[in-house]
Amino acid sequence: MEKRTYSSFLLKLFKSFDVTTEMMWGLHPLFHEEMKRGLTDKGGSLKMLPAFVDRPTGKEKGTFIALDLGGTNFRVLKVRLDGNGNARVENVERFVIPSVVMHGTGTQMFNFIAKSIQKFVVNNKVDTTKTKKLGFTFSFPMKQLDIENGILVTWTKDFSASGVVGKNVVSMLSDSLRQFGLEVLHINALANDTVGTFAAGAYKDPKCDVGIIFGTGTNACYREKIVNIKKLARGYHKKDHMIINIEWGNFDKLPLNEYDLKLDKSTKNPRKQRMEKMISGMYLGELARLVLSDLIRRKFIFVNSKAKFTKGALKTTNMSLIESDRSKDLIKIKGFLEHAGILKTTVSDRNLLKEICMMISSRAARVSAAAISSVITWMDPKLSKHHTVAIDGTLYERYPGFSKRITGALKELHGGRAKRIKLTKAKDGSGTGVAIIAAVAAKKKNSP
Ligand code: GLC
Repeated sequence: MEKRTYSSFLLKLFKSFDVTTEMMWGLHPLFHEEMKRGLTDKGGSLKMLPAFVDRPTGKEKGTFIALDLGGTNFRVLKVRLDGNGNARVENVERFVIPSVVMHGTGTQMFNFIAKSIQKFVVNNKVDTTKTKKLGFTFSFPMKQLDIENGILVTWTKDFSASGVVGKNVVSMLSDSLRQFGLEVLHINALANDTVGTFAAGAYKDPKCDVGIIFGTGTNACYREKIVNIKKLARGYHKKDHMIINIEWGNFDKLPLNEYDLKLDKSTKNPRKQRMEKMISGMYLGELARLVLSDLIRRKFIFVNSKAKFTKGALKTTNMSLIESDRSKDLIKIKGFLEHAGILKTTVSDRNLLKEICMMISSRAARVSAAAISSVITWMDPKLSKHHTVAIDGTLYERYPGFSKRITGALKELHGGRAKRIKLTKAKDGSGTGVAIIAAVAAKKKNSP
């Protein structure tokens, strides 16, 4: 291998993933422009979907069943709200969604969900003699008509069940529930997972005005003044606020490199969810694999081994493990590679692999920080108030260094004022939050 070609290639590679402070600032006006467009009928890459709910008071009380659909598992949770800012999960059951269901017909999918709910009802002796209110977290872009109805705009994250786009998902689920004899279960609140996470955060902390998911996908919601939501039909009090699901995964003003383009082409939704493909757990591993395959092809890594990484062979969880290896000879990485059939590796091979993972996850964190800062400065340009940001998702929770890098980048952007942005983990927020929203909706219906 010629040394000069090797180092100049690496230099170029790392540069193509670099996000400087200037670049983070440069994203702000572009993000704000897309937010502004999304709030009007014109629309743009940010869908800015009204959620028909504002923040909870923290006093909501009762036991609610929450349904959570959006990743590879469908979950049913029983959540108790104590009226004092505490939401406790009393029972939870997970059902793995088989690939045939994810990619089959919508009816098959909602029947699978209804059947899983039936199992939960039996296992947990849920009383089905009286009407029960349910909250439904549906983690996809949907155009809500009100708090309990919403139309799927498009599938994201590898879901593709047919006959659902353009349909009211609550009606579809209610039809399936009826088929399974569960008509007493009434879905009275529908929310995106970011909105659930926000509600979970705001239930505890009234300063919470942003909810974010960093998981299989990524997205955020925030609290907007009704006067600014130009596309909303009249009939609201101008002083009121409403939560807006940004659907930031689809932001399309970021510079893309050759690996982003390659990755995008191989997905079920090419040219869509550009930012999500740079940040979220579903894509980071594959992005790293594409870079690695290029290095292997150029004989810059694993030259003594017949290495081949086929699609899916490097997952984001593997990257987590690789980055967490702090041993001198990178033993954990060696183990992972041996398991993948790559036996003769050098310490510098393993080091390079670790650096590639760091390069990709750092870019993800810095783009995320720029997006968080854009949302907060949209609400509060001078950062004159405190903002709590509730965050849920495995990437944020488990990826080594991810949250620290976001905090670091926010400091780079705002100096001492970055302290006014408090990032908090809302563990299970996407599940518990919708129970809180169901309580808010129930109270609204009962009040005159
Ligand atoms: C995808 C979905 C979005 C969801 C996010 C996190 O981006 O489109 O609705 O909030 O994933 O689950």
